[in-house]
Amino acid sequence: MTSREASSAEVMVDVVEALPLGQRLWVRGVGRGLSPLLRPRDSVRVLRCGPGLLAPGDVVLLRQDGELTARVVMSTAPWRTGPLMGPPDEPGGVALGRVVALRRGRWVMPLPRPFRPALWMAQQAASSAWAWPQPRLVSRNVRNFLYAGWSLPLRRRMVGTLEVRLLLAGDLDALLAFAEERLVVTPSFLRRQLRDRWGVPEPARRGAAAGAFDASGRLQGFAWVDSYRQEGLNLEGPWVRSLVVAPRARLMGLATRILHVLMAEVRRQGEARLYADVDEGNAASLRTFERLGFQRADAKLTQQANEAWDATGDSARLVVFELPLGA
Ligand SMILES: CC(C)(COP(=O)(O)OP(=O)(O)OC[C@H]1O[C@@H](n2cnc3c(N)ncnc32)[C@H](O)[C@@H]1OP(=O)(O)O)[C@@H](O)C(=O)NCCC(=O)NCCS
Repeated sequence: MTSREASSAEVMVDVVEALPLGQRLWVRGVGRGLSPLLRPRDSVRVLRCGPGLLAPGDVVLLRQDGELTARVVMSTAPWRTGPLMGPPDEPGGVALGRVVALRRGRWVMPLPRPFRPALWMAQQAASSAWAWPQPRLVSRNVRNFLYAGWSLPLRRRMVGTLEVRLLLAGDLDALLAFAEERLVVTPSFLRRQLRDRWGVPEPARRGAAAGAFDASGRLQGFAWVDSYRQEGLNLEGPWVRSLVVAPRARLMGLATRILHVLMAEVRRQGEARLYADVDEGNAASLRTFERLGFQRADAKLTQQANEAWDATGDSARLVVFELPLGA
């Protein structure tokens, strides 16, 4: 921290401490304790109160080592706090108030008390993860918990309005940024596909890619449809591939919307059927395809797809879906 930042942090501590009990104030820069819900430069609205009005699962604004920090209250007797995604704090800190809202950019997210059990459980899951011998497994569980249905109202506000559409040649940068973080497909493959097949105008377009774009043009979800033959797999027809939605944007219907766009495009290209293969343990994906009317393929095609993938060294058992596209 620079000396100027340090002094402005001290001023902010004084301002909050001087606020009469029961009054509210927006405070900016309360650390990383609420990550990933809150980034360091986002703001919180604090209701000035003493520790007696706080309960487990509340978010408290603490004065700790001369700075303000937002933490989740783990217990009040004894008094324990912790970050949303980390081990419990060492005892200490002075409670200055309860955080009642978060602000990210122009979005204000109220933090009403019904969120208390969910935040408390998230903190418990995260803090036990630190003592766990398989941190990756536990951190995946914590992440799944954080991005489950209870946090949907907050996440909707964080993500904002999304446009779902076919990708065009000019979307290459957004696609490569998304792929770097979330896909196992190589950049050169994506570049080539977008340039030569998916991103070209009708009627020459072959296969297709669709994505969900946020207001700043970043992709929050993506999938593509194309022939497996290009990759040397002995499977006919167009197959849905790389369906991924960013964790923060899940359960908002994005995968469904992306698949609708792809289904329409593949139908337009004259295909009679669309196929998909899904790991049999992937409940979210199985549900997504079933809700869209995809049906389980017969034993012959299922075996053929599994054998084709086994030959590439991929051993997970796949469920194969097909959807007649109609006229
Ligand atoms: C699978 C995935 C793409 C779904 O994306 P999504 O945008 O959250 O899906 P939708 O919001 O469109 O939901 C579609 C349906 O699936 C259900 N669903 C979504 N996630 C679910 C989950 N974790 N458990 C159970 N059902 C789930 C939804 O409730 C919805 O069904 P409903 O209409 O009956 O409520 C997303 O979870 C993901 O990216 N997972 C990791 C990558 C992956 O596994 N990709 C699939 C490879 S084949």
